[in-house]
Amino acid sequence: MQKAVLITGAGSGIGRATARRLDQDGYALLLAGRTAATLRETLGMLSSDNAHAILTVDVADRVAMNKGLSDLLSGDAIELVGVFANAGIGGHNAYDVEPGLDRWDEILSANLTGVYVTLMTCLPWLENAQAEVKHVVVTSSVLARFAVPGYAAYQASKSGLLGLVRALAVDWGDKHVLVNAICPGWVETDMARDSIARLAELQRVSYEECHSNQCAQLPTGRMSSPEEIAETVAWLMSGAQRSITGQALDINNGSWMG
Ligand SMILES: NC(=O)c1ccc[n+]([C@@H]2O[C@H](COP(=O)([O-])OP(=O)(O)OC[C@H]3O[C@@H](n4cnc5c(N)ncnc54)[C@H](OP(=O)(O)O)[C@@H]3O)[C@@H](O)[C@H]2O)c1
Repeated sequence: MQKAVLITGAGSGIGRATARRLDQDGYALLLAGRTAATLRETLGMLSSDNAHAILTVDVADRVAMNKGLSDLLSGDAIELVGVFANAGIGGHNAYDVEPGLDRWDEILSANLTGVYVTLMTCLPWLENAQAEVKHVVVTSSVLARFAVPGYAAYQASKSGLLGLVRALAVDWGDKHVLVNAICPGWVETDMARDSIARLAELQRVSYEECHSNQCAQLPTGRMSSPEEIAETVAWLMSGAQRSITGQALDINNGSWMG
């Protein structure tokens, strides 16, 4: 039986980079997201030796998640030993722009409920897997550590994930499932590019100037690449660590130090 890992948000950015990295470790990858075309692009970047599959789904949709995973995991070719619950949406609430535009429900649904649904749906398969230790990694954010203006929903969702991770680390410890979060700072992906573009507009500076101002505020003077985040996830998922659970790992170029 091949060991499988579910990656949500696998069609771009951190999720895609992690799929490419975990492919090297020989996992069968279940690539989840809402857009089939981008998931197919990720699939095309992976080795054909592993039993990869695509799951086109909204992670907050309990019925669709359960049906999709049941279809993929029903045979005895693969067993689910890991989950990277990484899908999320970014951006400001917009409540300060116009009350009718408040994105609270949309952001909480994708970023917090979506992770909860993903993990709860996966639990029966994780419990049944024969591996000695199973791993869950959740993508939170440096914005669970400090606040910036206009991001109440995003910050609440990412802070909520840290509580969820601690709760499940306690609940699932006896099931041999380790549950951890990563808290990235700026990572060079479409989500970060969208945020910088908006910030540039607000500050009336060019995109390039805004990007370099943001870097200048970081002790290392740079943003992370998706590939660096993928390395940390691969290590957390590997057999190399069996004692870390309920933790949040900060990968933020020094923007917040706990
Ligand atoms: N980039 C940063 O600076 C940064 C910093 C801290 C944390 N993060 C977090 O890192 C994670 C990955 O983001 P990224 O930076 O790689 O940006 P990204 O390229 O925009 O990736 C987000 C992915 O999530 C998927 N997604 C969004 N909502 C979904 C839903 N309801 N159901 C299923 N899939 C959904 C998107 O695909 P579809 O639209 O096709 O569904 C997309 O592939 C996010 O949770 C984000 O909050 C990013």
